[in-house]
Amino acid sequence: MSNMLKVDNLWFRYTQDSDWALQGLNLEVKKGEFLCVLGSNGCGKSTLAKHFNAILVPEKGDVWVEDINTKEEERLLEIRQKVGMVFQNPDNQIVATVVEEDVAFALENMGVPTDEIRRRIDEAMTAAGIIKYKDKAPHNLSGGQKQRVAIAGIIAMRPDCIVLDEPTAMLDPYGREMVIKTVKQLNKEFGITVVLITHYMNEAAQADRVVVMSKGKIEKIGTPREIFSQVEWVKSLALDVPQTSDLAWQMNRQGYNLSTEAITIEECAAQLYKFLEE
Ligand SMILES: Nc1ncnc2c1ncn2[C@@H]1O[C@H](COP(=O)(O)OP(=O)(O)OP(=O)(O)O)[C@@H](O)[C@H]1O
Ligand SMILES: [Mg+2]
Repeated sequence: MSNMLKVDNLWFRYTQDSDWALQGLNLEVKKGEFLCVLGSNGCGKSTLAKHFNAILVPEKGDVWVEDINTKEEERLLEIRQKVGMVFQNPDNQIVATVVEEDVAFALENMGVPTDEIRRRIDEAMTAAGIIKYKDKAPHNLSGGQKQRVAIAGIIAMRPDCIVLDEPTAMLDPYGREMVIKTVKQLNKEFGITVVLITHYMNEAAQADRVVVMSKGKIEKIGTPREIFSQVEWVKSLALDVPQTSDLAWQMNRQGYNLSTEAITIEECAAQLYKFLEE
């Protein structure tokens, strides 16, 4: 499958005298993929994310959005249309006083015709599950609902890829679940490529592949199963593993012999059932 994003030996620092925030990263994100980026605080996840739609550009090396090098300044609009960004704080992303106006905001600025805007925002609000709030004031919505308004605003631009930088960090468990459900649906049903940065391992466990960063470098890339079954290694980076892998690991420390590869709740339950039967 072809690449949505390609990172080729990316080096970046914020100022000439600061340390390199990113140190020679290489990564390919395939079209239609759901990729998750993990790593402890300050390891460079947000800095990497901002390279995906040219908020930042490499000091050395290259980042490609399909066939566009993000250093091509004259193609910035094209890049921003292909790759949408969702940030942590929904309040900073909402600009209008009515939900549907907020979703329409960027399209209006782009000069999209009115009837086309109508079609697109209805579609986007439906996909994000917020159509029933379309006439409401965003500040009256919950954090999870607001975050889905922000996501709808991005979807209305018809991007090929969405990059979400800890979109659930400020949400309650229900809001988190709804946002992740929406993101997964956009990926599976609309084929939108997703890059999700998160500190929640149960969210990462649902991705196609997981990138683990540490101190400005990519340490490992693998399926959630490949990554999370290496419990000791993940913990050594001050990260958690999903509760499923952790349970098997904890039991193994008590002398049992369970597989840490059972990362879904179903797999974990099946393994425990089998174990209890024996
Ligand atoms: N605007 C900035 N100016 C200078 N240095 C910065 C800036 N933003 C980030 N940094 C530094 O770059 C490094 C990487 O930061 P970054 O925000 O990318 O990490 P992160 O993995 O997203 O962390 P977190 O999990 O806390 O969000 C850190 O050392 C940070 O202090
Ligand atoms: Mg960050």
